[in-house]
Amino acid sequence: MDYYRKHAAVIVATLFVFLHVLSSFPGGVFAKRDCPECKLKENKYFSKFGIPIYQCMGCCFSKAYPTPVRSKQTMIVPKNITSEATCCVAKAFTKVTVTGKTKVNNHTECHCSACSYLNF
Ligand SMILES: *[C@@H]1O[C@H](CO)[C@@H](O)[C@H](O)[C@H]1NC(C)=O
Ligand SMILES: *[C@@H]1O[C@H](CO)[C@@H](O)[C@H](O)[C@H]1NC(C)=O
Repeated sequence: MDYYRKHAAVIVATLFVFLHVLSSFPGGVFAKRDCPECKLKENKYFSKFGIPIYQCMGCCFSKAYPTPVRSKQTMIVPKNITSEATCCVAKAFTKVTVTGKTKVNNHTECHCSACSYLNF
């Protein structure tokens, strides 16, 4: 059960990043603000066990722009458009054990950085 829950979270996060990148592509700059900023949110599911567990959630800025000539020369596979996407990820976290055996990460600090799905 826990496995599927984590799995679902990863899929949702991946989809979200995809949508985020797509929606930011044509305009170059992501202007819509339909998503709260990247910050710590209490995880209601784990917090039921009586201890507050926090996870980083929210949106980060992403942009796409034509690749500068100089950096194109350094690319193994040259791309005309460079896109930078960042994700709301934990900068710092502590391991917490809930219900005696399940280990979860209690995020203590968030930032927008390289997308990583290993934080769940
Ligand atoms: C990138 O741009 C070059 C020249 O501007 C063009 O020849 C090439 O087809 C483009 N590549 C892609 C993947 O769009
Ligand atoms: C998780 O971290 C927050 C601070 O970010 C802290 O207040 C809370 O007690 C921590 N929870 C556990 C279970 O250690």
